[in-house]
Amino acid sequence: MSKSVLLLPGDGIGQEIMAEAVKVLDWLGTQGMCDLKFREALLGGCAYDQVGTPLPEETVTRALESDAVLLGAVGGVQWESLDYAVRPERGLLGIRKAMDVYCNLRPAQVFPQLADASTLKPEVVSGIDIMVVRELSSDIYFGQPRGVSTLPDGRQVGINTLYYTTDEIERVARRAFGIARLRQKRLCSVDKANVLEATELWRNVVTAIGQAEFPDVALSHMYVDNAAMQLIRNPRQFDVMLTTNMFGDILSDEASMLTGSIGMLPSASLGDRGALYEPIHGSAPDIAGKGIANPLAMILSVAMMFRYTLGQSDVAARIERAVQRVLDAGLRTADIMQPGKEKVGTAAMGSAVVAALGE
Ligand code: IPM
Ligand code: MG
Repeated sequence: MSKSVLLLPGDGIGQEIMAEAVKVLDWLGTQGMCDLKFREALLGGCAYDQVGTPLPEETVTRALESDAVLLGAVGGVQWESLDYAVRPERGLLGIRKAMDVYCNLRPAQVFPQLADASTLKPEVVSGIDIMVVRELSSDIYFGQPRGVSTLPDGRQVGINTLYYTTDEIERVARRAFGIARLRQKRLCSVDKANVLEATELWRNVVTAIGQAEFPDVALSHMYVDNAAMQLIRNPRQFDVMLTTNMFGDILSDEASMLTGSIGMLPSASLGDRGALYEPIHGSAPDIAGKGIANPLAMILSVAMMFRYTLGQSDVAARIERAVQRVLDAGLRTADIMQPGKEKVGTAAMGSAVVAALGE
């Protein structure tokens, strides 16, 4: 039976990289390797410009009707002065919340072809394979109260609330333990339990789930400041890192740069029903429209969709192999360009992946 996929290209380079993902999907379709129905909708700054809100109701409805959502990127300088309530980022947070995708997988893997692209020494980063599991539906991103108000004495006060309930911690912890079980069976939970009570609860709940349901997975705990340091000092010590929404936002950017190329890394945001797939890089307004953006993170997000939503790991592996092949052939977009390699644009890179899919 055919599955439905909603495409949300979004802003900036989102349009360009989505076009390359669609090329890959079209090829797979013509080969009979998938049976997908596509729809498209607006999200982010383009939605604000066209209909006055970054998250139109129609987009939410379509997302909830779909088996998976593929998202390019949102945001851009022209929307930065807007009120928080209608900024493109609010559209992204809104769709994550509406779909209740609470488990965000951000793999940080070094592509051997790009090992010397990292700012860290190759002997520190070579062979790293970390899965950051970021809670995505709660925490200070959504906690109430929030906002800026004025005190009786005229000073302004800004408030955001770090908020977690036991069930929110349990459900993401279960996912993370399950993923660790299929890997090296090591899970490091990152918190700030020495200072923040809400994350002491986090630590206790993760420990209880581990003891009761996943005794075969080795669980460790780390304070977030130490984790940030250890990621740079000795990243190979990590297998799966489980953490809160805010800490995961920060640590996943850090982990991505161990690989040298944020333009290469995909992500999956999973809920109990739907799932959202997007590259972890942003909309890169500075290079939007120039045809030079790297489409590989978007294409690798498509691979994650085949693995986690469509149950077709063989197709996921085929896409990943095709990406390896174009890197082996020496093709590079500007962001990953190295001496002696062939610089190509967005469309040429996408076409090369499609050609390699059939090999
Ligand atoms: C991310 C981004 C978003 C986040 C922004 C754009 C709202 O940084 O996906 O990591 O903070 O979650
Ligand atoms: Mg981020």
